Amino acid sequence: MRHMIKKYRKSLMIMATLFSTLAGNAQPTALPAPEKTGGATIMEALWNRKACREFSDRSLTEQQLSNLLWAATGVNRPDEGKRTNATAVNMQEVSVYAVLPSGVCLYDHATHSLRKVANGDHRQLVAAGQDFVNDAPVSLVIVVDMGKFGDRQEMMRPMGAADAGIVAQNISLFCAATGLATVIRGTMDRKALQKLLGLKEGQEPLLNCPVGYARQH
Ligand SMILES: Cc1cc2nc3c(=O)[nH]c(=O)nc-3n(C[C@H](O)[C@H](O)[C@H](O)COP(=O)(O)O)c2cc1C
Repeated sequence: MRHMIKKYRKSLMIMATLFSTLAGNAQPTALPAPEKTGGATIMEALWNRKACREFSDRSLTEQQLSNLLWAATGVNRPDEGKRTNATAVNMQEVSVYAVLPSGVCLYDHATHSLRKVANGDHRQLVAAGQDFVNDAPVSLVIVVDMGKFGDRQEMMRPMGAADAGIVAQNISLFCAATGLATVIRGTMDRKALQKLLGLKEGQEPLLNCPVGYARQH
């Protein structure tokens, strides 16, 4: 038990350090390298996957956040610059923002780092009425840049939505495989998030996933 409390305190301290660095620093914050092993088997993850709507306030460690973001949309073939998530015609039009208690950061897949775009706790913009989201230590907002499809935007719209869903499923399966909890959501204050994240025309927040630990009863 004492070991568990010590481990929990340590993970809180690591996250507090990461977040205070992020809060005061416009430079990208490097994440630890994503791990290459660990987690349940793919069959176990599929058996475990489910929506969670009751989170504890337990933080993730820096390593868990690193693994989570890499699983969502990190580079898995550095020679080709290709990613864990498939995208239509390899357009790579999907970005992920981490909404944390002390700020909002864009995940830079190329450097596996976080770039702060806003200070403060904006989780309520993701919650948009579903209050359980405010308990989860991080929410990942999945943004699709339809502008990348140029004059084929209307035709490619379903592809953008499918590509966002693929990132969400990566997150879901990562959580199911590693003892974390999540729910894929379409609900959020899109307009306010577009402004907060400084999105340009064509960039649309399509889905989000609060991630943390399921509250135990
Ligand atoms: C595209 C999409 C949007 C969703 N939006 C929400 C949402 O806004 N809020 C929510 O609580 N659940 C949302 N869900 C979760 C579904 O309600 C949930 O997956 C469904 O009830 C099946 O439960 P399961 O995931 O545990 O199998 C969404 C799921 C998907 C795939």
